[in-house]
Amino acid sequence: MPGLLRLDRVLSSRGYCTRSQAAGFLRRNELLFDGAAVARTDDKVDPSKLTINGEPVDPESILIMLNKPVGYVCSHRDEGKLVYELLPERWTRRNPPVTTVGRLDKETSGLLILTDDGKLVHQLTSPKRHVPRVYVAVLDRDLRGDEPAAFASGTIILDGEDKPLLPAELVALEARRARVTLREGRYHQVRRMFAAMGNHVVSLHRESFGALELGDLVECQWRFVSPEQVLLGER
Ligand code: URA
Repeated sequence: MPGLLRLDRVLSSRGYCTRSQAAGFLRRNELLFDGAAVARTDDKVDPSKLTINGEPVDPESILIMLNKPVGYVCSHRDEGKLVYELLPERWTRRNPPVTTVGRLDKETSGLLILTDDGKLVHQLTSPKRHVPRVYVAVLDRDLRGDEPAAFASGTIILDGEDKPLLPAELVALEARRARVTLREGRYHQVRRMFAAMGNHVVSLHRESFGALELGDLVECQWRFVSPEQVLLGER
């Protein structure tokens, strides 16, 4: 029957255990397929109807949004705390690996997308696609007033670069707080844009990426999303 896969293959490809550990995993956990107990590791199951200890089995492909706290790094190998430590440990054993879609600085909080779908990473981060990312920046000094025009001009060239930035939108929220919409993702871009205007970003938070908004997602929490939910925001 199409859609049926050997249980041990499902468990190993989704990082729960290796194929040789599947029998032990089955003894220690309650696995139900369509509500009935799974008896053997070579039983064929439809993963969409498989539960492990009452939870649906992880999907074949991972796509989530995470509310990243300050202090975590978007890297698989680095000093200090890694964003992957906020996700199920079994995901570190998945192949292809789960990676971040672009990066947020260690000191930036907010919406971070992670996936194991390389094509989607390319679609979302390709400079040709101009997927919008919305940030709120708190600043060290009052806004001067000329920032919206400067950001929208498409003429800012950041230190050490030769290609001007794409036009970006800035809306002043308070004297020292602004919402900035970018359509590209260069290294430390928001911080460097304000530095180019003689200011300094004290804190930075990403509210949305493409059509996805953080909404009520609590800091350090994550949830599954669909590609359509992210790509709707594409222009
Ligand atoms: N711009 C920055 O300066 N930092 C980020 O993490 C994202 C955008």
